[in-house]
Amino acid sequence: MSKSNSLNSDIKSMKLYRHVDRVLTELQYLGKSEQTPLSASELSPFDQLHYHGTESVDEAIRATGITASSSVLEIGSGLGGPARHIAATAGAKVTALELQNDQDELASHLSARCGLAEKVAHVCGDFLTHEWSTLHFDVIVSWLALYHIPERNVLLERCYGLLQKGGYFFTEDLYARKEFTDWERSELATELFANCLPDYDTYLQDLKTAGFELVSAEEMSDDWAVFTRERLAAYRAHKARHIDVHGEAVFTAMEHFYDVVVRHFSGGKLGGIRIVARKA
Ligand SMILES: C[S@@+](CC[C@H](N)C(=O)[O-])C[C@H]1O[C@@H](n2cnc3c(N)ncnc32)[C@H](O)[C@@H]1O
Repeated sequence: MSKSNSLNSDIKSMKLYRHVDRVLTELQYLGKSEQTPLSASELSPFDQLHYHGTESVDEAIRATGITASSSVLEIGSGLGGPARHIAATAGAKVTALELQNDQDELASHLSARCGLAEKVAHVCGDFLTHEWSTLHFDVIVSWLALYHIPERNVLLERCYGLLQKGGYFFTEDLYARKEFTDWERSELATELFANCLPDYDTYLQDLKTAGFELVSAEEMSDDWAVFTRERLAAYRAHKARHIDVHGEAVFTAMEHFYDVVVRHFSGGKLGGIRIVARKA
């Protein structure tokens, strides 16, 4: 098995990435057939796999100055939600790089259904090894994907190399607020597929070492602890509806995932960070 293929299967230990067709089930439930016109905003309740949905993507657009003439790379684009929102609202061209084949294929299908195939280029690959030939981007964005990727130095070197001079880097990501026990680390490795959780100072220092100028760093931990607690409570409150629409297996997997995340944020060791940096 190639390194990317084995990453592809290992990452499925994180239950958020099973049952990716949940989004299609939601569309069917809304009575949207393949032939019905679809907009990116109709999909956004289901296709944003990070916290605060399109609000956070709007923040990235504002903070990095994305406009219709920007070329944007999203690392770890999932179902394509943030990429479509950037393309639909700012008019920018977005390259959406995603490791998992099933998510990439579904993302591509959804972008086509939203009439955004020209604006969003879906690419399946591992950011650590993907060949970009001569491409360069004005902005690189990433939501809750970088902590999956080992070799932070290679990751940041590649980001720096792919950006135009003066280009912006935005990420919302996870980090370690305190030392984890071996058991916690092992659970995070399986249930969240966490492969890189530096502490806050190391996170910032690694960016500077790679050559980036730090524009802002925001501590998101408390906010995300509240968000994820409310998400779990809302999911449980609608248990009957979710089982009716998606079936028991999907409900159990999602509830389990949401619960693990709440436990780790509430425990005070898992943290969230929002970074804006620039290639000077
Ligand atoms: C939590 S999801 C977020 C998806 C999307 N950014 C969003 O907010 O809706 C993180 C994504 O990063 C992808 N990913 C993880 N490692 C990657 C890698 N080495 N190269 C490309 N994508 C990767 C995962 O497959 C997953 O779909």
